[in-house]
Amino acid sequence: MKDIAQTIKLLKEKKQALILAHNYQALEIQDLADYRGDSLQLSILSAELNSPLIIFCGVRFMAETAAILNPESKVILPVQDAGCPMADMINGDQLREFKAQYPDSVVVCYVNSTVEVKAESDICCTSSNALKVVSSIDKDKTILFVPDRNLGSWVAKVSGRKIITWNGYCPTHQWGFTAQDIQEMRTSHPDYELLVHPECDPLIVAEADHVMSTGGMVNYLQEHDRLIIATENGLTDYLKHIHPEKKIISLSPKAICQNMRKTRIEDVLSALQDEQYHIQVEPDIARKARLSIDRMLAIK
Ligand code: 13P
Ligand code: SF4
Repeated sequence: MKDIAQTIKLLKEKKQALILAHNYQALEIQDLADYRGDSLQLSILSAELNSPLIIFCGVRFMAETAAILNPESKVILPVQDAGCPMADMINGDQLREFKAQYPDSVVVCYVNSTVEVKAESDICCTSSNALKVVSSIDKDKTILFVPDRNLGSWVAKVSGRKIITWNGYCPTHQWGFTAQDIQEMRTSHPDYELLVHPECDPLIVAEADHVMSTGGMVNYLQEHDRLIIATENGLTDYLKHIHPEKKIISLSPKAICQNMRKTRIEDVLSALQDEQYHIQVEPDIARKARLSIDRMLAIK
């Protein structure tokens, strides 16, 4: 493992490449990354990076967003079929039909979506800025929120806005936690705070002390010591690793995203050696999708 990490480091320098890793990636991948972050942080960063080669350790929609925002760089996704099941729960045709049912609405798409869906949307959002994005829309407008019903319903509840959600969800967050997990954890750890990702089922979100993105959780941890985390376990593993002095527990060991786990250190090495898999977005779709991403980035 050490040898591979060393070879990656040398090759990275030779090719002036940068490695980006989402907060859910396996520990050894996060450890060798130049930058780690949540979806919003990595999108902002991708737009600013000045590197000929970006190795994006995450899932396809993230690498696509990076490729759209930084057409000058060659963006590589190390594992070709690392996708996001939630992103695939709505396609362009389905969104066009949805919009036709609500002609005067505004479409907000979660960044966990395909480029085609982004291209058909008015504005994009991530879990850390969804509330800001929705609040920026005219109060009299009906908002169509795709694809995540859980993030959409949480934002509707907090903002008080009229939001119609698509029936998509993240299997990891939807099925990874139960009310019983919370009950048991609250009993065994009564002085811990519960942080919940908004992709979780509303019944789990309702029990949270705080609802936040993975980036929000990383920041929250700086000032707090006893936390129960309800999100994909790659984040919890990494937080425990960088803060061994703090008390951090995952709400459930079941919350694992199989797609995020596909990237292994060997894949990162091949990605650097062979410059595969190059993520390219058809220019017309990229231009339209970029409008919805840029509108989000103007708000942040
Ligand atoms: P954030 O990175 O915005 O917290 O989102 C989590 C997620 O599921 C990304 O796939
Ligand atoms: Fe998609 Fe859920 Fe995996 Fe995130 S954790 S990439 S939303 S399946």
